[in-house]
Order: sequence, then structure tokens, then C-alpha cells
Amino acid sequence: MNYFFGEEDGKDGRNKKVRYNRYQLLRVTPRTMIQVDDVLSLRDDYDGLMYWTQPAKNRSADILVPPNFVRDVKEFMHMRGLEFVVLFKDIQKAIAQQNPRMTRDQRIELRNTKGHEMTFKRYHRYLDMLKYLEFLSTKYPELVDMITIGKSSLGLPLKVIKISTGLRTQKGDIKPAVWIDGGMHAREWISPAVVMYTIKQLVENFNVNKKIVEGADWYILPVANPDGYEYTHTIDRLWRKTRSNHESDEAARTISSYLFGQPCRGVDMNRNWNFHWGETGASDDPCQETYAGPRPFSEPEARAISDFIMDRKDRIKLYLTMHAYSQMWLVPWGYTNKKSKDFEDLLNMGRKAVEALSRVSGTQYKLGHSTQLLYPASGGSDDWAKGAAGIKYAYTVELRDDGTYGFLLPASEIMPTGRETFAAIKAIAKAIVCKN
Ligand code: ARG
Ligand code: ZN
Repeated sequence: MNYFFGEEDGKDGRNKKVRYNRYQLLRVTPRTMIQVDDVLSLRDDYDGLMYWTQPAKNRSADILVPPNFVRDVKEFMHMRGLEFVVLFKDIQKAIAQQNPRMTRDQRIELRNTKGHEMTFKRYHRYLDMLKYLEFLSTKYPELVDMITIGKSSLGLPLKVIKISTGLRTQKGDIKPAVWIDGGMHAREWISPAVVMYTIKQLVENFNVNKKIVEGADWYILPVANPDGYEYTHTIDRLWRKTRSNHESDEAARTISSYLFGQPCRGVDMNRNWNFHWGETGASDDPCQETYAGPRPFSEPEARAISDFIMDRKDRIKLYLTMHAYSQMWLVPWGYTNKKSKDFEDLLNMGRKAVEALSRVSGTQYKLGHSTQLLYPASGGSDDWAKGAAGIKYAYTVELRDDGTYGFLLPASEIMPTGRETFAAIKAIAKAIVCKN
């Protein structure tokens, strides 16, 4: 395998590692609607604030504040009577500590003893993940297939692993299928890690998980946005979007599509799906983190996934997309306050998942309507899976944690998060696809 990784120097002037020295992470909890507006208004007054979570009445927002604004922002909060705490005084330290490095000797040792370098003790690069998938398909050829469903904007392959014991049940019926993806948002590192853990359980722990592996075909895409994911490893740990460049696109030249003379790159892949695209909770400004793109499915990654799912839409009975953070199991719709007709069914199945999850080590997830627990945001993949592809059970899962580390969840939490999440996946898959 020989892939080109990383981006060429100088493409958008941000080829040097972005640092966040003395950036402070503040958690602010608005208690009234007026205070919610106050928190949101900060965004317009101070360029470069990063909202890790969105404010709502009595729900906190985690906001990353550049050092030159820290004093003013805190003063504003005092003045408006806003409750806040400092979660991190220097987020760069948390960035530096999150992912322990592996020495060359450790890598060689792993390769020699296991045949791959996946550890679940650290966050791995995309190439290492692909190598592990190749390893599995070589070692378990009768169970595992690799399918390249397309390419990213920068040319990285999008690899789905198919885990199947055969299309038909012993009775001769066509089996249902399950889809899981991770890594749509680049900085949510726990997501690909947990999806890889799920793959490991299904394949290498087949005997224990026989029932769900034999009961369905599993299609799993661990990194839906590999360009963004690699960019968070090499350049900017807190990047969210894809890395596409729509500079030459008329529709992208709306407002301030240039920052420091450079075109803003990337689209929020979870605002880019062709279902109520661009209606709410998304931006038409290419420089914003929730930029929906110049048009639905402008991103080749989202289009490739949608084509693949559409071809199998009648067989896929469960759609799961893994995000972070907040510990929530979200039920569509995400674009409207209205509930789907079968909302209660989705809630009941979701309950099985979060209950199984909490039994592993007590981690509590909130279960509920996406717009109520979070905010309305259209163009999400869960809504598309349900509304456009007709997959009844479609969920977005917001993994650990609840904000202690946020996106910078230490690598030591990969395994515990993997264990509990897999318990949830197992429970809900059993309930949906192993009915008989
Ligand atoms: N945190 C996720 C996001 O903002 C939540 C998506 C929920 N689904 C939705 N269709 N809004 O992308
Ligand atoms: Zn996300």
C-alpha cells in the first residue's frame, strides 16, 4: 500500500502546526434565554472563539478562548451574571498529553508479535488503521471483505470493512445489514477508535459475538473524513471539517470566504447531506465550522457513503454514526422540533442501547430527540439515513466524555469507551436484526 498522506506545503498557508498555547476552555451555563443570547453574541465580538458545545437554557457551552480575549470574555461574563468555570488554563498542554507516542522499537515489536500496530492504547494514524483492516482481511478471508467506496477530496481511499458469514440465513432468507461510520468530524478522535474497537470485537471475538455477526451483514467505515482526520494529526488538532477547496465554486463565494487572503477550506460533513440541506443550524460561510458546503453532497466522502447505502437501503436496518462528545444517544429528527411518526420505537430501541452501555461501568448517556437535547441542525447523516434512505433505526451517538476532556479525551479511555459502546451496539443490533 502506498498512499500520499498529509497536505502539500503552502496550499492554504496553514502548513505549520497550529498551536493553542494558553487558550482557555471555559464552561458557561446560561440560565435564561437572554443569557443564551449573551453567550452567542460573544461569537460576533471576538473572532476565533471556538464553541465546542452549543449553549442552551440551563445547558452549558464549552468555549475555547484565545489568550488575547480571555480577560475581556471573562469580564463580559461577570457583567452579565453568567456562571462559568475554567476547564483548562492551557489547552495546548492537554493536546500534548492526549496521545502518548510510540517508539520505533515498540512499533517493530508490535509488528513482529501481532502483525499489525493497532493497540487501542493510543490514537492511530489513518494508514495504521487501514493496515489493521488489511491484516484482518488476510487473516479472516472467509469473514472479512474490504470495499473501497470512493476517495476523499485529497485522494485518500474510503475503506469499508464488510463482515459477513454469508448473504443468506440457514433458512435461505436474505439477511439484514447494519451500517456504522465514524470520524465524520476530524477532531473527534474517540469515534474512529471506538469503531475500530467494534470491528475487532466482531472479527477477532467472533465466538463470543456469533449471534449478531451471523445475524446480519456489517458494513463499517471507521474514518469517513480521512483528510480531516490526518490534518488533526499533522497540522491542527482541533479541525472539524473536511479539507476540500471550493474556491473556484460560485456558490462558495458568499460572504467572507477568505481568511487572511487564503480561501477557507473544508465543509462540515454533517451538514452536507441531501435532506433538508441548509435549512437550519448550518452556515453558508466557508470560514465557519458548520459550513454546509456550496450544495448538498458537495463532499465526495458524503456522496460515496450515500451511494453505497442507497444501493443497500432495503437491507440496512440500523444506521449508526459515531461522534463526540457529550454522552448522548440521539434520535432524529435533527432538522426540526417535530418528532418522526415512529419516534417511540426509536426511543425504545435506544433505551436498550444506553442501558446495556451503563451496565458495563456505569457511564450515563442521555437518550432523546436530537433537536431537544442539542439544537436543530439540518443536513445531518442520521436524518438523511432515515428520511431519504428509509432506514427506520438511525441514530447519532455522541461518545465520551461529558466535558472533562472533551475532544482531548486521553488515550487511556479508548478501551473503556470501546467496551461500553460495543455493549450498546450489541444490544441494539440484537434487538433489531436478530428478532427470530
Ligand atoms: N453534534 C452533531 C453535529 O452537530 C449532532 C448531529 C445530530 N444530528 C442532526 N441531524 N442534527 O453534527
Ligand atoms: Zn461530530
